[in-house]
Amino acid sequence: MTESSPLLVHVSLADRSYEIAIVTAALDLLPELAQTWLTGHGYRVGDAPKALVVTDQNVKTLHGDRVAGLLDEAGWQARLVALPAGEPTKSFAATQDLYDHLVDLRADRSTVVIAVGGGVIGDLAGFAAATYNRGLPFLQIPTTLLAMVDSSVGGKVGINHPKGKNLIGAFHQPVGVLIDTQFLATLPDRDFRAGLAEVVKYGVILDSAFFHFLEGHVAEINARDPAILRRIVASSCDLKAVVVSQDEYERTGLRAVLNYGHTFAHAFEALAGYGELLHGEAVAIGMQYAARLAERLDRIPPELVTRQTRLLESLHLPTGLPSDHTWPVDAIIDAMRLDKKTLAGKLRFVLPTRLGHVELVENIDEALVRDVLRQG
Ligand SMILES: NC(=O)c1ccc[n+]([C@@H]2O[C@H](COP(=O)([O-])OP(=O)(O)OC[C@H]3O[C@@H](n4cnc5c(N)ncnc54)[C@H](O)[C@@H]3O)[C@@H](O)[C@H]2O)c1
Ligand SMILES: [Zn+2]
Repeated sequence: MTESSPLLVHVSLADRSYEIAIVTAALDLLPELAQTWLTGHGYRVGDAPKALVVTDQNVKTLHGDRVAGLLDEAGWQARLVALPAGEPTKSFAATQDLYDHLVDLRADRSTVVIAVGGGVIGDLAGFAAATYNRGLPFLQIPTTLLAMVDSSVGGKVGINHPKGKNLIGAFHQPVGVLIDTQFLATLPDRDFRAGLAEVVKYGVILDSAFFHFLEGHVAEINARDPAILRRIVASSCDLKAVVVSQDEYERTGLRAVLNYGHTFAHAFEALAGYGELLHGEAVAIGMQYAARLAERLDRIPPELVTRQTRLLESLHLPTGLPSDHTWPVDAIIDAMRLDKKTLAGKLRFVLPTRLGHVELVENIDEALVRDVLRQG
């Protein structure tokens, strides 16, 4: 494969199906891809198509200006908006700001909203696209590893309510996703590693061969080798896409497998204070607790826990809570009960039965969970 021939992942969702193109250093494919994706979804693209390109202030100089420049050169009318970086930008105020730009641009049905950034920008821009004029086409250009392997797949878009994360949102599938792994070269180490936790998760929950592949390519992953990054991003998107296409609106419970490690992780994030532990770091630790719980329930042998620990450690992810973050077991259990994914206060967990397979297990004896937490 040459550096410029994209790896393609198809997300199969009836008339909302779309393509994820994964490239390295081939961002200049954007105008042509955007045109193909828009017409493929039935939008009429004129001679000077309009786009609202949304990014954050960090990503603007690194990559956002280039995206807008490429569209300009190709004859688009592209307006670039750079919002403050960070979670507080997933707000009503920022949404209003984007609506104002869309009004000002005289956006019509075929004006495309393009998100260039991490999950914050993707969720926010996607939400504005889902709601303005009852829905505008949306295109994602994720720039963090987390956004590439997780938030840009599946169509969940939204903002935060002052009282809770992601409370306001919609399902709005993009017309396409362009991933250039070159963006990862500028990503801070901690964010890169945090994204890897979700990558490891896909191996444990869905694909033992992928887990094995990760084990065999630790050095290349840590060195951010472009060919290996393309491969792991493509496999991760593919695995998530298969789950999403079976349960697009999270109704049947199938999509719940993606929450492996997350019941613990959400509790740790809440207790640490949001932003203290990165989501991916909390997921790595949460997967460790989930695996130990599965071992206690005799669902998996101890060797599987060890394999997961080794892989996470070799990717420099935490496998236990940092010593300044030890909370009383009661506080952790309470926080888990508050998690929006628990049903009526019952403790339920996604647990492995073997490498590459998990099940949602209800009504787990609380005493066992406490035990596992105590042994931390
Ligand atoms: N929609 C979904 O299905 C879904 C899934 C998982 C997470 N999320 C959401 O994603 C958000 C987290 O996303 P995130 O971790 O990408 O955070 P983020 O968007 O805040 O990005 C993290 C930081 O990296 C910077 N950055 C982005 N790309 C960069 C690059 N290439 N080089 C240098 N710096 C770069 C950003 O400016 C930011 O400071 C949360 O709001 C979460 O709720 C959504
Ligand atoms: Zn996650």
